[in-house]
Amino acid sequence: MKAIIIEPMKPGTARLENIQEPDEREGSVLVEAVAVGVCGTDIEIVEGKYGWAPPGKSHLVLGHESLGRVIDPGPASNLRKRDLVVGIVRRPDPVPCPNCAVGEWDMCRNGLYTERGIKEIHGYMSERWRIEPEYAVKVDPTLGILGVLLEPTTVIVKALEQVASIGRRSYWEPHIVLVTGAGPIGLLAALALKQFGFDVHVLDRVETGTKPELVRALGAIYHSGSVADIGFEPDAITECTGVGQVIQDSIRGVGSGGIVCLTGVGHGGVVTSASVADVAASAVLRNNVIVGSVNANKRHWYRAGQVLARADRGWLAKLITRIEKPENFLNALQRKPDDIKVVIQFSEV
Ligand code: BGC
Repeated sequence: MKAIIIEPMKPGTARLENIQEPDEREGSVLVEAVAVGVCGTDIEIVEGKYGWAPPGKSHLVLGHESLGRVIDPGPASNLRKRDLVVGIVRRPDPVPCPNCAVGEWDMCRNGLYTERGIKEIHGYMSERWRIEPEYAVKVDPTLGILGVLLEPTTVIVKALEQVASIGRRSYWEPHIVLVTGAGPIGLLAALALKQFGFDVHVLDRVETGTKPELVRALGAIYHSGSVADIGFEPDAITECTGVGQVIQDSIRGVGSGGIVCLTGVGHGGVVTSASVADVAASAVLRNNVIVGSVNANKRHWYRAGQVLARADRGWLAKLITRIEKPENFLNALQRKPDDIKVVIQFSEV
């Protein structure tokens, strides 16, 4: 079968290749790939900056934002043939650490977790893949190809849950929230925050185009420019850019007692103008919390399914700005100015 593979840490090794059918040891459920989303992490892996092959192997099948159709549910699952499913990304570490032991693999403490398409287990960019029944999440069939947005939604649901639980440290009534970055993660954050009843503001660099339109269609307010210029102090900020200056401005711009949740993974960039101690002082003097959030556990996958199921299908469809064939995967991995979510489609939904 055809698969998109790479040799981790070696840039320029991504290729479409014929590989063996998935091994039964990867799970008793056999799935036909429908679509796989591309995200910044995939691009980093392809650029040789991230990613690990399975032990003893030199290549990794890419892809962690999956959507597939069950071909064979196997003997031990409540799935049925033709069900639309998405595969959970992370698997608990084998020790296990206390968090993995209680099913919170997203909070893994020893770093020995594995992740499909990222860390030591093959991903979902192959014509067929196998999965353990307990890691296959059924998606609302009316979502069709939009089910491919489930994985990025789980990342946001987890991040917002973190903010909500931290908020219980004191009396806190958040009302007005800011999302920085109007990429797929930022837009899905705005969608979820709107559903949860907040007054939502989204900030990005662009001034026109699909991003501001999608924000306004949610009934949220769009800002372009800097966090320092938005003219109010948000109760919470969901930071989805990973850009140093935006992170710094977010920490300094969040309201007193507010929470900044970092979801973007950035590197390098321009050294910002303030010292770490100055940024920290503003957080100390205003009781701010800065929290990093990654991945998602089963509870978040369930709640993310609810967020997508409730969303307007036309709005969600506009997030997928490009669909490429597996043969054109290199194109899919190239960022274009108007891209929001690029998807590689393996079969009809
Ligand atoms: C994925 C997460 C993963 C993280 C770190 C993200 O792109 O969505 O599931 O935990 O990368 O590897």
